[in-house]
Amino acid sequence: MFLRSETLHRSSSDDLLLFVTTSMRCVVVAVLAVYALIPSVHCETKTAWCYHQPSCNDSIWPVIAPTYCSGIRQSPINIVSTSAKPNSNLTPLTFQNFRSTSALKRIKNTGSTVKVSFDSSVRISGGDLSEPYDCFEFRLHWGNGSSVPGSEHTVDGNRYAMELHIVCIKSSHKGNMALAIEDPTGLAVLGFFIEEMSNNGQPASWHTLTSYLSMIKNNGDSVAMEPGISLDDLLVGVDRTKYYRYLGSLTTPTCDEAVVWTVFKDSIKVSKDLIDLFSTTVQFSDSSFMINVYRGIQPPQEVTTQSGSSLTTCYSLGLLALSLALGRS
Ligand SMILES: *[C@@H]1O[C@H](CO)[C@@H](O)[C@H](O)[C@H]1NC(C)=O
Ligand SMILES: *[C@@H]1O[C@H](CO)[C@@H](O)[C@H](O)[C@H]1NC(C)=O
Repeated sequence: MFLRSETLHRSSSDDLLLFVTTSMRCVVVAVLAVYALIPSVHCETKTAWCYHQPSCNDSIWPVIAPTYCSGIRQSPINIVSTSAKPNSNLTPLTFQNFRSTSALKRIKNTGSTVKVSFDSSVRISGGDLSEPYDCFEFRLHWGNGSSVPGSEHTVDGNRYAMELHIVCIKSSHKGNMALAIEDPTGLAVLGFFIEEMSNNGQPASWHTLTSYLSMIKNNGDSVAMEPGISLDDLLVGVDRTKYYRYLGSLTTPTCDEAVVWTVFKDSIKVSKDLIDLFSTTVQFSDSSFMINVYRGIQPPQEVTTQSGSSLTTCYSLGLLALSLALGRS
């Protein structure tokens, strides 16, 4: 049985991981405080990383969080589609409760992203994962409105408008993030690109999702979500049998190298007005608009994908047509 614990609620990469890294500092502060006979200690659990200031942006994460942010299997990466190696083990994943219209529970401004947490029913398996993974939240990355793209991964150098990350933890870790980040495949993240489409207010699921943004303008704000939209609704239009796979890391400090990445080839199409709402509604802790919330590209990793590229399909269709034509003559 998968227990949704407080641990899991705090398990987002920028909440829990920072808690882990800062707890040692808190101990030191506490010891000093006790030594100085100060009665109470306030432990600040946010370390100083950011996206938007030179003193803490991603170019210095390897300095402020060196253990992993300066590591050797860091994310995100640029995916070179023609270099992706065929792997016949990359079968379709099974998506459990992605259809549920009541699994999305809460939406939060974390100070560095917008995060939606799930109930404990959402799960994935298959697709060459070693065991099922329990999915507990998604997070979003964006640039500055639809005109400045802000996906984390790029494909053949192309950056999409936004990227959605569904974060899942290996079931056997039972929601224990500290165990998961010590495991090279402790987490599975599903990455979905978001691309602009021309209509307004579309799709309806994203209209509903973005309607919450005005309620979480400030760092730390969160609200309960009404039942209504499912993950399937949000992932509309994506053929989920086609994806890239590689081993990488969390894309925020402490950048732990514990992630099996699944990046889907198709993008979700969302209208420009809705994409623009992210960069014009929610704010960082300093009350400036939350923009360009993505990490820069890291050194390449080996990427695999389903065998039978569209090129091969085209070629075999061509051969089939040719043999039909020859058979007829
Ligand atoms: C990040 O900060 C560095 C200095 O630490 C600066 O050179 C760089 O331009 C900044 N990047 C962004 C995207 O602001
Ligand atoms: C973001 O876009 C807005 C609107 O186009 C613009 O006013 C603002 O200067 C941009 N911010 C940055 C940091 O590029």
